[in-house]
Amino acid sequence: MTAVREHFGSRLGFILAAAGSAVGIGNLVAFPVAATKSGGGAFLLVYALFVFLICLPVMMAELAMGRRSDKDPVGAYRQLSSGSHLWRIPGWLALATPFMIAVFYLVVTVWVLGYLIETVTGNLDKLAAPDFFIQFINTPQIFIYLVALMLLINAILAMGVKDGIERAAKTLMPMLFVMLLGLVIFVLTLENASLGLKYYLIPDFSKLDGNVVSKAMAQAFFSLSLGMGIMITYGSYMKRQDSIPGSSRAVAITDTLVAFTAGLLILPSIFHFNPQIDPTELSESSAGMIFQFLPRIFLALQDGIGYVGASVVATTFFFLVLVAAITSLVSIIEVPIATLRDERRMERKKAIYLIAGVQFLLAIACAVSFGMVNWITDFVQLAGASKSFFDLVEIIFYDTILPLNGLLVCLFVIYKWKKANFDKELQEGDEKFAGSFSQKYVNFSLGTFIPLILLLIFINTVALKFF
Ligand code: PFF
Repeated sequence: MTAVREHFGSRLGFILAAAGSAVGIGNLVAFPVAATKSGGGAFLLVYALFVFLICLPVMMAELAMGRRSDKDPVGAYRQLSSGSHLWRIPGWLALATPFMIAVFYLVVTVWVLGYLIETVTGNLDKLAAPDFFIQFINTPQIFIYLVALMLLINAILAMGVKDGIERAAKTLMPMLFVMLLGLVIFVLTLENASLGLKYYLIPDFSKLDGNVVSKAMAQAFFSLSLGMGIMITYGSYMKRQDSIPGSSRAVAITDTLVAFTAGLLILPSIFHFNPQIDPTELSESSAGMIFQFLPRIFLALQDGIGYVGASVVATTFFFLVLVAAITSLVSIIEVPIATLRDERRMERKKAIYLIAGVQFLLAIACAVSFGMVNWITDFVQLAGASKSFFDLVEIIFYDTILPLNGLLVCLFVIYKWKKANFDKELQEGDEKFAGSFSQKYVNFSLGTFIPLILLLIFINTVALKFF
């Protein structure tokens, strides 16, 4: 028997849940790191252009596919292509991608949880030690944290769309905004914070090159949770009377504001720590920033506000990142759940057990990729370098298949499902959209230059990462 499809209870509930998905470690850490390395304000401008000119139409396309079909990604492609065999492939890709991205994102979130526990228990000084991170990610404790995290996320998911996902977003997202603002206000009062602000806000266009531009694009795409089947699935829980263009705009604005605000937090902190610093010399990776550099910055605060004060700031920060990661994980794990429910008529709880079981095993394989198990640490040779299982999952699903999925959504919506049907769906709940400039732009861009840009990114990644 098919149960009646659950829906989000209100437009605000949907926007908070979708923003909860979009706001993640990507916004809080990857964005400020990328902006730091790539011309501050200049990166910000390019990033914002990509969000609104390229990613927003793709988000509308994904939401429309979901809401029209009332299905998970596999079902959406099948139904809207009237059963075409060829178009089943993107449906399966839009299922495999979130499944596997969730696996490596779970592991990173486990580290965040571990760091949070360390700061709460008064061990901030330990975190700031140079070798702590690599030792920590190789301790058996992380398996306990993994179990705890998965229990929490799956408990939210077990309560369903309205009582689980929406309610969690309505509680956690306002909390996240408050913590973020509180931290920014505190950081801006620190000595030399203005140096960081200047560095962040005054654009240095000389740093913009092809590499930076493609990084901004990939970051924007990931940050809005596109190409992961999430927006298709969340679209299927949207009410017909809600505006897809309006809600997409609200999600994109929230997501971009949070990324921008995270920059206001990270850069002034870096300059307070060391006013002479050249931020372009910092490590390229987000992991290096969050797990190695930031703990040192937090510890250094003890000179001004004491050890307990510094620990409170660090705890708030890691809690903030944990909350952002949890709402993202909830959205991404909902995709395979929706697929098992829609395609296999499986009960929600049963689907959760099955998915959590497989993800747990794969997450362990990712977690032991850093030296615990040698053959998983040196899993394959790619482009002349040895890569771990964790690296491989990230390279295949995040770097490569994500833009491919986006490309397929554009082509599908415009050329297979057809513009007229897509337009009709966007107009439901938003009559003003019909015939507007936005509508013409969305149709034109999705059929022309957006898929082209995504194709170029895809080809570039394949060439770079695999050969
Ligand atoms: N928008 C998320 C972020 O910026 O971190 C992307 C994401 C990652 C969503 C992982 C969901 C997820 F599980």
